[in-house]
Amino acid sequence: MLTPPSQLLLRNSALFEGQSLLLLNHESDSCARELLKLCPRVDALALDFNHFQQLKSQATASLHCYFGHQLPHTDRFETVVVYYPKAKPLLAYLLELAALHLQPGGQLLVIGENKGGIKSFAKQQSRWFSNAAKLDNARHCLLFAAEAITNPTALDIETYVSHYSLPTPQGDVQICNMAGVFSEKRLDLGTELLLSHLPKLKGRVLDFGCGAGVIAAALLKAQPELSLECVDINAMALLSCELTLKANGLSAKVYPSDGLSATQGEFDAIISNPPFHDGLAATTHIAESFIADSTKKLTERGVWQIVANRHLPYSDTIAAHFGKVNVIAENNKYKLYRNTSDKK
Ligand SMILES: C[S@@+](CC[C@H](N)C(=O)[O-])C[C@H]1O[C@@H](n2cnc3c(N)ncnc32)[C@H](O)[C@@H]1O
Repeated sequence: MLTPPSQLLLRNSALFEGQSLLLLNHESDSCARELLKLCPRVDALALDFNHFQQLKSQATASLHCYFGHQLPHTDRFETVVVYYPKAKPLLAYLLELAALHLQPGGQLLVIGENKGGIKSFAKQQSRWFSNAAKLDNARHCLLFAAEAITNPTALDIETYVSHYSLPTPQGDVQICNMAGVFSEKRLDLGTELLLSHLPKLKGRVLDFGCGAGVIAAALLKAQPELSLECVDINAMALLSCELTLKANGLSAKVYPSDGLSATQGEFDAIISNPPFHDGLAATTHIAESFIADSTKKLTERGVWQIVANRHLPYSDTIAAHFGKVNVIAENNKYKLYRNTSDKK
């Protein structure tokens, strides 16, 4: 199965046939494997852990698959393909990463769907590349090309981090937010409601969908003795969370997971402001799976607390898996659910 941007890329294979190829922000399809029929070496970096899981099953000696915000090596390629990111602020980062891994004078290809906003790429200025030329237009997608005019020798992550302080009920926390990660520069009102009603926790605690680490930092600020684990599907969120914890002098285990799949054992508490988007599309599916799986991951007296937009229909799923629904607090936008009716 190939996504429309990958189909557009493959029908333009004459542009890069026989070359070494790097795919940045690879999505979930078999494009990397198809490209290996045309190119001697293909590397692919996924920023979404679910995409990576699908990608890594295609790996061979000539197809190297990675998850994270960067590659674990400094090799340079003849062509780098950037899948236009759903979170627009990520584009500048991906372009610098592309320039870092391109040979001097190497070719940049950028592909994406019209509905994802790629049209505006023509106006995008990058110090690393010549002006972009539109090469093809099909499957509701566009393909742009540009040439590397200068190559960075290293990428300074700091350039892409926003630093700001957020007031939380647990006190001010310093946030380090990478481009495109949830809730930039403000405390999400749902997160605030959740933090305002945190019970005293103990033992092993999970922050599901940690984003930039706002909940994690506030939680540890109040209870540094907790053994906290933070999971997210997004490489940029995981990096942000790690940087946020470090900036506050706190520590937790931060790792990728799609849902609760990578978590081990049981938790004394699971806390979350769960996602209601998959890429650009609104969905209740991720949160519903998380609710269903949570009961298997909690100790007998474990605390489970989530906040959600009040219009999202989670009550039935919570009742089906926890036996009852306790709304601990609410306002005109959000509801706070807990598995116990204890209001403290
Ligand atoms: C609503 S945000 C909450 C972020 C942060 N906890 C806060 O309150 O500011 C939800 C987070 O869930 C992550 N996410 C989305 N789908 C996921 C999945 N399948 N598994 C784990 N995390 C996911 C997103 O990347 C995002 O960081």
